[in-house]
Amino acid sequence: MPEVLLIKDYLEQQAEWAAAFQGFDIEVRDWKAHGMREAAAEIDYALVWHPEPGALARLPNLKLIFSLGAGIDHLTGDGRVPPGVPVIRMVEETLTAGMTEYVLYQVLRFHRAMPEYEHNQRRRLWRELPQIPARRRRVGILGLGVLGGAAATALVSLGFDVAGWSRTEKRLAGVTSCAGNRQLPAFLARTDILVCLLPLTPETACIINAANLAQLPQGAFVINAGRGGHCVEADLLAALDSGHLAGAALDVFPSEPLPQHSPLWRHPRVSITPHAASKTLPASSARHVIDNITRFRAGRAVGPLADFARGY
Ligand code: NAP
Ligand code: GLV
Repeated sequence: MPEVLLIKDYLEQQAEWAAAFQGFDIEVRDWKAHGMREAAAEIDYALVWHPEPGALARLPNLKLIFSLGAGIDHLTGDGRVPPGVPVIRMVEETLTAGMTEYVLYQVLRFHRAMPEYEHNQRRRLWRELPQIPARRRRVGILGLGVLGGAAATALVSLGFDVAGWSRTEKRLAGVTSCAGNRQLPAFLARTDILVCLLPLTPETACIINAANLAQLPQGAFVINAGRGGHCVEADLLAALDSGHLAGAALDVFPSEPLPQHSPLWRHPRVSITPHAASKTLPASSARHVIDNITRFRAGRAVGPLADFARGY
């Protein structure tokens, strides 16, 4: 009997998932169709996103849990993860490349004043705006992990003046490393374009707040592709409306889909994407799962493992 892998929302992309696991010795089943009761003891692995509370704990023989996303905040609620079952984060090239593309695009868009040119085009206004060299544009990345580190390196290659903020100090070529709460004020004060790629934890929640926004230079931009819980929406709107912030690009929101009544939808200096900065695609994420299951079967180390004590 082959081992069994349950995948959340498998049926929505069944052809892609089936192709991705073809030739690998595993039976793939859908999370919902499985019903989470019948044959629960047959399930060996689960690839999940926002599982219902307690659902994973009802799989008595679960060996590994895979997060469908890089973030594990969907698994940190009470009783979501049965004790002793390792949780593997989604870290793979395509997800990282997608986020690098998103960050480069949004940084370049603000850096080259594209929102203002688009606004002028709608008014048939022919007006050149100042062009600032990349080396004079200071980009600051909150979170210098897998995604933040890759984005920082790509921005350095374009000539930007890049700093990153993380819990522990980093050594990344061309990137100024700032670590811990003590260095946050200096990091914010030198940041013209702030990019959030932090995990959502009790320490990082609401980090894009009035006090921190006030420390950014006048006319700064904010790009949030971490989690909606990082940003205090009212504080961001106030900073945009006062003119302290020149623009924001938001991919994530405290409530998703973003509610129809949200003032963010219509704000002239806000651009919105529907949590699509970088997506987990079946082909590449299946390679990460297959690699880990192969290692696990051989008794080798798996990962990268989520650290629930740290919260990411
Ligand atoms: P990661 O490799 O774990 O990196 C997290 C970074 O945040 C690390 O540099 C870490 O510092 C830093 N950090 C954590 N807590 C901190 C704190 N209290 N103070 C300062 N720095 C702190 O995570 P990742 O793979 O880059 O993913 C980051 C996040 O991106 C995910 O958790 C998810 O929320 C988000 N994401 C969004 C999308 C999207 O489409 N919008 C897609 C994928 C991921 P250390 O290095 O010192 O530990
Ligand atoms: C998406 O938001 C992820 O965490 O990968």
